[in-house]
Amino acid sequence: MIAGVPKETFPGERRVAVIPAVVPKLAELGLEVVIEAGAGETAGFPDPLYAEKGARVTSRTEVLAGAEMVLAVRSLASSHIAPAPDLSHLRVGQIVVGFLDPIGAPEGVQAIAERGVIAFALDLIPRISRAQAMDALSSQATVIGYKAVLLAADTLPRMFPLMMTAGGTLTPARVFVIGAGVAGLQAIATARRLGAVVEGYDIRPAAREQIESLGARVVELPMEAKDAQDEGGYARAMDEEFYRRQRETMAKVVAASDVIICTAAIPGTKAPVLIGAEMVDAMRPGSIIVDVAAEQGGNCELTRPGQVVVRSGITVLGPVNVAAAVPNHASLMHARNVANFLALVVKAGRLVVDETDQIVRETLVARGGEVVHPRLREALGRPALAPAAGAAR
Ligand code: NAI
Repeated sequence: MIAGVPKETFPGERRVAVIPAVVPKLAELGLEVVIEAGAGETAGFPDPLYAEKGARVTSRTEVLAGAEMVLAVRSLASSHIAPAPDLSHLRVGQIVVGFLDPIGAPEGVQAIAERGVIAFALDLIPRISRAQAMDALSSQATVIGYKAVLLAADTLPRMFPLMMTAGGTLTPARVFVIGAGVAGLQAIATARRLGAVVEGYDIRPAAREQIESLGARVVELPMEAKDAQDEGGYARAMDEEFYRRQRETMAKVVAASDVIICTAAIPGTKAPVLIGAEMVDAMRPGSIIVDVAAEQGGNCELTRPGQVVVRSGITVLGPVNVAAAVPNHASLMHARNVANFLALVVKAGRLVVDETDQIVRETLVARGGEVVHPRLREALGRPALAPAAGAAR
């Protein structure tokens, strides 16, 4: 089967879905890789490296026309920050694998389904041990957490570590990380490595131990977050009264921080607003907020996606598509995740969709012209489909 890798078209995208080192792994599965010329360039993988590993480098038209399977990072997804992609090149029976933002923009998956393709959304890989090697969201979140701290360090008019110098003692930066999922924990680890004094908070009680294990202090809020976690391990959305209390009880920590890294998110809904404008005003001039929840609306009231907002000397960064800013490592992890996922659904060069497998079932979003994922059908207001008759096919 021919697996085509087009150059990404999402604004500012620099990642690529397949890196040269992964081409032989895909060949072992019976996949012949055809890649658009220049597709890996911005991630540091020039065309000759792909050719050396056995991939065919050709034009976009040839890649898309010849491919039975299209591998993408996020250029097939509609999103809040980019218009609907051009899906006109997709054709009936083609297989699509990539980030499709199914929960955030189910109508984008609907548009993909209408092309008659079989689509797998990597965003929906379940957070179970067996799927860890394919967990593309975690890989990119790792990059995001790391980069968020570097953005803050680059903008902060102070240094992060404690320094005893001939010019005087410099106190360490105080960093507060809100949300301790994959990105938040990586932000905590990175800020610690840079020598900051770090505090963290997450609504899920399970995150406490993880924050502490990285050497950060857990911020205790005098409020109970009962039922904060769903069965999938994700945080549940709380009501506005809860968030109001959270803002109130967090205000002191916010005011005392030099840097705040916001990563709090709830899949499929707008990110909760946890820092009000008045809380920003209470921070010291020169302080920085890096809100990587910006694509979901942001955790800070002042965040504007893709923009830098300065108010009373405090800078609020709302970076979008942050993982694309570290394209080499982000692509390396993504490509390995993709190869591990494909090992599950491709046998001897043929697609084998075994819906008894939880990972396959939960990532399969479109087939036969229809959105087939029950949660997405519900979000789109479509009736449930009759249960699949056979298991493997
Ligand atoms: P995410 O990107 O959906 O959310 C980020 C964080 O924000 C989460 O930790 C969430 O609890 C937190 N949050 C939400 N509302 C908040 C609020 N009001 N205040 C403070 N924090 C708030 O989450 P991510 O990083 O994708 O991880 C989701 C879950 O999956 C986590 O429990 C994570 O540990 C787990 N996970 C499990 C894996 C596995 O077992 N294979 C792999 C990766 C993640």
